Amino acid sequence: MKYKGIILAGGYGKRLSPLTRSISKHLLPIYDKPMIYYSLSTLMLAGLREILIISSPRDQSLYKVLLGNGESFGINIKYAIQERPDGIVQSFLIGEKFLKGYSSVVILGDNLFHGQNFIKQLEESMSNNNGATVMVYPVSDPQNYGIIEFDECYNIKSLYEKPKSFKSQYAITGLYFYDETVIDKAHKVTPSNRGELEITDLNKLYLMENKLNAKIISRGFAWLDTGSIDSLHDATSYVRTLERRQGLKIGCPEEIAWRKGWIDDKQLESLAIDLLDSGYGEYLLKLLNRIN
Ligand code: TTP
Repeated sequence: MKYKGIILAGGYGKRLSPLTRSISKHLLPIYDKPMIYYSLSTLMLAGLREILIISSPRDQSLYKVLLGNGESFGINIKYAIQERPDGIVQSFLIGEKFLKGYSSVVILGDNLFHGQNFIKQLEESMSNNNGATVMVYPVSDPQNYGIIEFDECYNIKSLYEKPKSFKSQYAITGLYFYDETVIDKAHKVTPSNRGELEITDLNKLYLMENKLNAKIISRGFAWLDTGSIDSLHDATSYVRTLERRQGLKIGCPEEIAWRKGWIDDKQLESLAIDLLDSGYGEYLLKLLNRIN
């Protein structure tokens, strides 16, 4: 199975207003790097080198300034526009040509994943995927998420979008794995009451075929969605605390590219030199053991 990646980085970001009045939330900082670096890093950790970034028309040029064609990270980035945030499923309609003949990993640009064995979990989700795989995570506020209900044997019983009454504590995170049939299925999804093409409805189509898998992320793992003022702040604190404690960066695409052998020492060094003033460059040089 060959995979390509999509980052969904559109949306209005109203919960972050007025921060988002003139710029996409995915370009706002989470501690020492733009939010989109974290979702991009997740796709890179999964080994994906062909990535489509979907954004609003307003912000596309800024993403291009930040990430270019991906060459400096040893990857290939393409861009597409979502005119209006009409739902996550639209990413498959927008990315139809890009995805043709490929399975896909889709990540919401405001999701941050961090924890042990993540690469292994990503690889397993891709290699064992016989339809669709969603990552699920126990949360204290399930009414705010797409929710998955299991039976006693952890078979998937049903899916709910932001249920008013309690169904289960398992939220579906913003990281999804789909086979090539996703495009046909996406065409079958119709707008919900709130006018969006809901990812829950797409996942229900897989569930009906008995081809929806759920991978439960353990409680020792961090899944942060960074779309509100407080969650943005929490994510910054989380990254700052761990990075300062360990001296290791979270969500650093330059490092991932270098560790994967997609860029060589010389390329990493030249990326580092451009970033020396902030300390980011120093970190990259340390990887090369050029400074202590
Ligand atoms: P949301 O947080 O649901 O929406 P939003 O980003 O517009 O924020 P707000 O509710 O504050 O207005 O979106 C989750 C992620 O998915 C986020 O990274 C934006 C992205 N997204 C799109 O790119 N296009 C879409 O049509 C939708 C629904 C979401």
